[in-house]
Amino acid sequence: MERQYTRLDEARNLIDPIIMSIDDEEAKRGAYVHLYGVGLMASLLALKRGYSREIAELAEVAGMLHDLLTYVDRAEDTDDHAHKCADYARTHVLDHLVQFSDEDLEMIYSGIYHHSDKRVKGHWFDEIIKDADAVQHTLRNPMEDYFFQTPRIQQVLNELI
Ligand SMILES: [Fe+2]
Repeated sequence: MERQYTRLDEARNLIDPIIMSIDDEEAKRGAYVHLYGVGLMASLLALKRGYSREIAELAEVAGMLHDLLTYVDRAEDTDDHAHKCADYARTHVLDHLVQFSDEDLEMIYSGIYHHSDKRVKGHWFDEIIKDADAVQHTLRNPMEDYFFQTPRIQQVLNELI
């Protein structure tokens, strides 16, 4: 079977050049590792929770975008970065995608916008992005307690393993 060009590729074709243009090598490495890691985990969690492959695709896009601005401008990681990242994603990527519906784009935007609200439970899609973010931070260093001991991580790991 031939490889397909999907709408996820449309999103990556806009996201990858932004990452590639980051001139600080450490920030660029961090962007690839974390953004692709969260995208992958978000896609997995969506499928594990019984959602469709289309939803997994949206989760992957939201994961790849959720912190993009943080790596581009190397800003402080504050709660407000989620809102700024959402607006950056909208202007630089989401507004240029033609294969996604307005509803899909709004869901991606919301997942990015709310990803720092980890102490509260929100919309199911937003929760996928928050959980994926937390899991990527945890699994890149399973011995570190900072993320591992949180109730959110314990719950997601119980779900996955
Ligand atoms: Fe993140």
